[in-house]
Amino acid sequence: MHANDPLDVTRRSLIAGGVATAAVVSTPLGAQAASAPAQRAPAATLPVSLKINGKTRKIDVDPRTTLLDALREHLDLTGTKKGCDHGQCGACTVIVEGRRINSCLTLAVMHDGDSVTTIEGLGQPGNLHPMQAAFVTHDGYQCGYCTPGQICSAVATLGEIKDGIPSHVTADLAAGIAPTEDEIRERMSGNICRCAAYSNIVTAIRDVAGERA
Ligand code: FES
Ligand code: FES
Repeated sequence: MHANDPLDVTRRSLIAGGVATAAVVSTPLGAQAASAPAQRAPAATLPVSLKINGKTRKIDVDPRTTLLDALREHLDLTGTKKGCDHGQCGACTVIVEGRRINSCLTLAVMHDGDSVTTIEGLGQPGNLHPMQAAFVTHDGYQCGYCTPGQICSAVATLGEIKDGIPSHVTADLAAGIAPTEDEIRERMSGNICRCAAYSNIVTAIRDVAGERA
């Protein structure tokens, strides 16, 4: 290719640009660190008092700690599972002040003084909660990872129905009729089961609700 060929000039310009870029990339780390922002100091902790499964527990947590991580990492209550950590699967469902919530979507410090029920507080081997027993009876699980959240959600669901809290399909409830399969599926739709044990989960819940499928 001729020295004055415009294509050759372009090629040489590109090579020169590449060398300049390489020089920037290869700048010693120390020089880069000198211009980097200072590292943040560790966050201060805040005291939180939770009434968990009937017992008052006091912890100091980084204010950014979710209720889920407080339960699992600070209180060793690992029955509550972390699935998505983004409010999409329901594996982390616990009951707070009588209402089910996704514990991955709320901060522990927001629940200072609240009553929290986890799967460990519903029942224990040899003394199962009726919902736990029904899940066993009807094979409402396979791998079991979603099961603590499913059971907490199911218990709270029946509480919601009893309290007359509406869902999208409330015709039967308004008439005082036991929850239908559709009603239960609607109310439990926030709890995902990768093993697809849905039919047996619904059967277990209807069993506890007194409406045998
Ligand atoms: S872990 Fe909380 S909703 Fe999935
Ligand atoms: S039993 Fe495996 S995810 Fe539900």
